[in-house]
Amino acid sequence: MISKIIDDELYQGYLAKVYQDTQGYQRYSLAEHTLYKDAGICITYGELLYPSAKKIIHEMSKDQNEVFLDLGSGLGKCALQVFMQTELRRVLGIEASKELHTQALTAFNQVKSDFPSFWEEGRSLTLICDNFLHADWQDATIVYSCSTCFTQELLIAIGNKINQQPQVKQVFSFRPLPSLKLPLKKVFAVECSWDSALCFFYAKR
Ligand SMILES: C[S@@+](CC[C@H](N)C(=O)[O-])C[C@H]1O[C@@H](n2cnc3c(N)ncnc32)[C@H](O)[C@@H]1O
Repeated sequence: MISKIIDDELYQGYLAKVYQDTQGYQRYSLAEHTLYKDAGICITYGELLYPSAKKIIHEMSKDQNEVFLDLGSGLGKCALQVFMQTELRRVLGIEASKELHTQALTAFNQVKSDFPSFWEEGRSLTLICDNFLHADWQDATIVYSCSTCFTQELLIAIGNKINQQPQVKQVFSFRPLPSLKLPLKKVFAVECSWDSALCFFYAKR
């Protein structure tokens, strides 16, 4: 498997090149802030860093049939790393911001052009531009969310939505999900673009 051969320095160097012209921070108008707030969208941007995405990959189920979903996928970095460093057949991200979504698509197209072999055997890496509270989660079994800045209302809504999706067996969230019915398995530290955070890992027994 290519992911075993290419080492972390090469990965990080390559990904830095792919993302060199992207911009995560966005200036929103007051009207957009109000619109997003009312829709349950938290627009603060930040990213999980490469070594910590590896920690999540280490903890999660590697069964090829798992479907990984990043709730609020931003520029798509975490979803892309999971796609490149596991053998999961389906990885998806849902992001409300059209600007972030479009930049993520550009990055993914670049990787597909450079390394089409990752897409062999029907593997897919899908991005949906929508509010993840209303979008179709497409049979996701592993849910990840870099939820540090999410409101309590949004965290509760995420937990409620997961409770309605019995196929979800693992959840990684940077804030506790108060309404979630899955048991908490462990809590571990992760590094993000702004600082360190805790990752709450819930899993079916
Ligand atoms: C902190 S960033 C995380 C980026 C990426 N997932 C990572 O781990 O590096 C959170 C993202 O969630 C998005 N977001 C927040 N609420 C959302 C919602 N209800 N639906 C879709 N996206 C949302 C924001 O626009 C932002 O891009």
